[in-house]
Amino acid sequence: MPSEIIVKNKTNIVSKTAQNLIGSEIIKLAGEIKDKISKGEKIYNLTIGDFDSNLFPIPSEFREEIIKAYRLNETNYPDASGVYDLRNAVSGYLAKFGKLQYNADEILISAGARPLIFSMYQTLIDKDDKIIYPVPSWNNNHYSYLSHAQVIEIETKAENKFMPLASELEPYLKDATLLALCSPLNPTGTMFDKDELEEICDLILEENNRRGSDKKPLYLMYDQIYWALTFGETKHHNPVTLRPEMKNYTIFIDGMSKAFAATGVRVGWASGPAEIISKMKAILTHIGAWAPKPEQIAAAKYLSNHEAVSSYISKMNERVQFRLLKFHMGFQQLKNEGFPVDSVAPEGAIYLTVKLQLKGFQTDDGFILETGKDISEFLINTAGVGLVPFSAFGANNHDWFRLSVGTCPSSDIEPILLNIKNALKTLSF
Ligand SMILES: Cc1ncc(COP(=O)(O)O)c(C=O)c1O
Repeated sequence: MPSEIIVKNKTNIVSKTAQNLIGSEIIKLAGEIKDKISKGEKIYNLTIGDFDSNLFPIPSEFREEIIKAYRLNETNYPDASGVYDLRNAVSGYLAKFGKLQYNADEILISAGARPLIFSMYQTLIDKDDKIIYPVPSWNNNHYSYLSHAQVIEIETKAENKFMPLASELEPYLKDATLLALCSPLNPTGTMFDKDELEEICDLILEENNRRGSDKKPLYLMYDQIYWALTFGETKHHNPVTLRPEMKNYTIFIDGMSKAFAATGVRVGWASGPAEIISKMKAILTHIGAWAPKPEQIAAAKYLSNHEAVSSYISKMNERVQFRLLKFHMGFQQLKNEGFPVDSVAPEGAIYLTVKLQLKGFQTDDGFILETGKDISEFLINTAGVGLVPFSAFGANNHDWFRLSVGTCPSSDIEPILLNIKNALKTLSF
């Protein structure tokens, strides 16, 4: 049969799920910026949640172990759950640095954190189940869509550092299957305070006690992939240390991508109740999204070297915090000079939350800025600086933006702030 017969009309050639899938807005924006750069424009690209690997290389001990594992031909299939030595090393790492007790059966390894989030959604969610997550947040809209769930988005507030309050979540917990939280939060670089997280845990426990054992519980996904990157006085808190009973309902998402600047190495882990981890493993088996075996063997060796881990993380934190604070101080200075900008004190991750209250302002060529996307384009075109509007993370406001420092040499900070100041001066109201 000639192949043209199969290609009918364009909308009919893939599943409805594939047709309606929205690509990542952030990757699209980063692509537009790359395009401009390739045409010779000078753009400071602060849009990507990644590292420049020359500025922030992975730990040298980890790199050497990866090379060694390839030399030793460790190149066949890894165990479906992840090599035992790595699950054991993650267990030790979580106990030493994260105050969490998980044994190897309660840990699953995959190629970074994304496959774990996907398989967790597939493991817990039936069609039309309710998922609650705060916005702005990273990618929960896409994972919910792929699991055909009903979504309840809670719009968070700047005065609460864009973290959700227990009182905002409470009305929606009844009959929900999953609450998806993240701390330190992408895109804001802010974290849960202990009291607020305790209150949320208490609500989850209350709801599960009310629900009884014949109904599917309310689970908590706690994405703490940035937890090692936390600064100053602020401490990272997790639901299970605060409320041990939460261990029955919590699935942690974590990995090497952010804390060890290893986004391209692809080693992530989830920890949670053994039965859930085992089902997640079964789903991953059909995707084959295992972390490469040499990387797993190397991660096992590296994560067991607590001294090396501790020294890498403290240097990493110092360098990330320096950049974030310098930008924060720069925006506070612009605010003091009367520009309509602000920023939220950074607490963790590689992000600063920046306010550019420019809706209604007019550009040089008479264009009135309306949306976060307009403002972001104005900034790219006039200041040569790329930031991501919070609308790309599902938020409905137009004033707030994510600034990522993972690819920013500290020598760029002053010129970037100056460019932004000069661009703001071109606007009229
Ligand atoms: C909050 C959060 N969770 C998970 C991930 C995914 O991490 P990985 O690259 O290990 O898949 C990211 C990546 O940006 C993230 O920001």
